[in-house]
Amino acid sequence: MVEYSPFSKEVMSGDPYPIYAQLRDEAPAYLIEQYGAWAISRFEDVWQSSMDNEHFSCEQGTTASHLLTKVQPVTPMINMMDPPAHTKLRSKIRTHFAPRALGELEPMIRKLAGELIESARDKGELDVMGEFASQIAVRVACTVNGIPLEDGDLLGELVTRFFGREPGVDGMTPDGLAAMGELAAYFVGLAQSRRGNCDPEENVVNLLTAIEFDGQKLDDESIASHLTMLIIGGAETFPKVFANGIRRLGEHPEQRAQLAADPSLIPEAFQEILRYDMPTQFLCRVVTKDFELHGRKFETGQPVLFLYPAANRDPREFENPDVFDIRRCPPRILSFGQGTHACLGIHVAKLEGKLCLEETLRRIPNYEIHLDRAERLVTDFVQGYASFPITFESY
Ligand code: HEM
Repeated sequence: MVEYSPFSKEVMSGDPYPIYAQLRDEAPAYLIEQYGAWAISRFEDVWQSSMDNEHFSCEQGTTASHLLTKVQPVTPMINMMDPPAHTKLRSKIRTHFAPRALGELEPMIRKLAGELIESARDKGELDVMGEFASQIAVRVACTVNGIPLEDGDLLGELVTRFFGREPGVDGMTPDGLAAMGELAAYFVGLAQSRRGNCDPEENVVNLLTAIEFDGQKLDDESIASHLTMLIIGGAETFPKVFANGIRRLGEHPEQRAQLAADPSLIPEAFQEILRYDMPTQFLCRVVTKDFELHGRKFETGQPVLFLYPAANRDPREFENPDVFDIRRCPPRILSFGQGTHACLGIHVAKLEGKLCLEETLRRIPNYEIHLDRAERLVTDFVQGYASFPITFESY
């Protein structure tokens, strides 16, 4: 019988897929007894549950640190709100993430990507995490939200500490919690400096200082909490997806050559990269109304883990799911969530993926990967590489 814990060595060490396959087949509704929490792993179950506001809530938190180890305080982040309050807030800030609002990002990302590769040209080596994708992601997240670009490095470091894990500590560490406090303090200061003193239409930070719900403005702590989520969402996931993509294309030179020869295939390839190696291992909900799934009774108050990477490799949804195929074009994947809380940054992330892959494959299409030197994060939450070096011939 399958045994699963999000904190087990097997799950955290980089290849959780054998356990995920067992869960899907043997225990699609699995009770993690230690925490009285459920884990669901089949694509259709995660898809449907993501859209179900009748039986699930986000208000008590969505991470293991909120709901299992309970070390992270629940603060008013957009992703931890339920409708109708969530719908109101999301509809106001959504315009800043719509494709037509992202026009200025394209030249910025292209230029930055080009410069970062160029700066590694003499050395012939580039860490695509630390020296490339992370640099781009944090600057893009700052730009989209209206956060000063010069603070990008500081924020990038705080986000990395937020996600840090230590052997022997399940979930978030004291240092991660301290980093969260520092992020909040930074954003309180930023909100105070903008309040009553900016154009609310210009960007998300400004908008949050001016927005009113039932005649009440958001307080500084709430604004800081929403902005913490926005910088974390923006800065952390994309680099991990990108490094995984560079790895998979390195392992499949024939598919990489197709992309280099025909960059119009890149958006589809990025979808497959997202499906194949989804970094976010799970997000949680809490049951608000009893129901049954696969003969098991889910009770009010129990946390439920949505195991996205397990769902993204479910053979009930994808033919040969463990095969990496840039021409797969599936009608649906779960890498950006689904429904009420589907990723607000989806167009930003897709644009980053497209442009970063285009610039990489145009300049250094024959890069080599070095798995023996890549440093993998050991973590329950957002998995991937801490560093991923590639080498290339000077061009
Ligand atoms: C490849 C990169 C990314 C991936 C894989 C990703 C993934 C996700 C997922 C799975 C969710 C669903 C959360 C849930 O259901 O609880 C989500 C939500 C969210 N993401 Fe992303 N994300 C990415 C990039 C971004 C970027 C670039 C931004 C912003 C600049 C962003 C901002 C957000 C926000 C604000 C939410 C919460 C939306 C809500 O609760 O209404 N994400 N993301």
